[in-house]
Amino acid sequence: MRILTGLQPSGKLHVGNYFGAMEPAVRLQDEGEAFYFIADYHAMTSSQDPKALRENVRELAIDFLACGLDPKRAVFFRQSAVPEVNELAWILSTICPMGLLSKCHSYKDKVANGISPNHALFAYPVLMAADILLYDSNKVPVGKDQKQHLEVTRDLAVKLNETYGEGTAVIPDPIIREDTAVVAGLDGQKMSKSYNNTLPIFGEEKSLKKLIMKIISDSTPVEDPKPTEGSTILSLYKLFAREGDYATMIADHESGGFGYGDFKKRLAEAYWDYFAPMRARREEISADHGYVDEVLAAGALRAREEAGMVMSRIRSAVGLR
Ligand code: ADP
Ligand code: TRP
Repeated sequence: MRILTGLQPSGKLHVGNYFGAMEPAVRLQDEGEAFYFIADYHAMTSSQDPKALRENVRELAIDFLACGLDPKRAVFFRQSAVPEVNELAWILSTICPMGLLSKCHSYKDKVANGISPNHALFAYPVLMAADILLYDSNKVPVGKDQKQHLEVTRDLAVKLNETYGEGTAVIPDPIIREDTAVVAGLDGQKMSKSYNNTLPIFGEEKSLKKLIMKIISDSTPVEDPKPTEGSTILSLYKLFAREGDYATMIADHESGGFGYGDFKKRLAEAYWDYFAPMRARREEISADHGYVDEVLAAGALRAREEAGMVMSRIRSAVGLR
């Protein structure tokens, strides 16, 4: 079974990305042949900054490895290291009705938010379908926001088979993480770069603690019991704390006599300990200059090998060979 997913290199990884995307991907690498890539072509649809792109790709690669992606088990590569994906995107474009793309929410949302759309942003789901079909992927774990893009991918795979014969494309199944609770940000809304409410998973201790101290809480006096429902501090603490410590935290909310400053301190400590092994690993990887490049080069080689086989099947099905 081939499992494939991509992550866009678009800035510092936050706690929401970690629990929503990174951690599930790392867990899944044991359940099949995992192909994980950094979607650098996709990132170019919303930002055209060569220096930032280079840096973000490298940082995301280090993050992924620090968080447990094992390059011996998973094939890890940059999307652009396999340019065949563009060839497949073109072939898919020729069978993709305009209507399929113009109804995509993520495109419509971005336009509604005032982004002046380029052709690539409109064609984004076709490139994503090419990412998936190029490796005969069976399972594609993604967040809820990508559900519609997976439907487009399946529609295009079916259409490719109808047009050029069964077996031209493998039809992938999404694994939609409906149950991954949406991780709350510092202001209680969904944690997201676009809301400026994120808690990065890597960074300097002092500034991270400061961020945690900024979490919005209510004004219950220290001696009174504190609400446990809808508490951002508690929902974050639950992600990091040991079970026993979480139970103590709940009991201390219910009994009163503890202030939010104290709770935030406990949260900051639990958070810091939770990411300690990843932080140490990250430092090791960053210090070893050649390592990331070697991993990505080896991954690209494996990915291209697979892509080459799939492309020659598709080229001959469509009449290019
Ligand atoms: P952002 O909203 O910060 O721009 P992205 O849209 O780049 O984050 O998300 C990258 C991945 O992280 C996606 O798979 C998405 O589902 C997941 N993700 C982002 N924010 C959260 C969150 N608050 N809770 C759970 N998963 C999240
Ligand atoms: N569009 C995805 C996102 O923003 C990233 C992505 C690109 C992807 N190609 C993919 C995810 C292929 C899964 C499969 O999160």
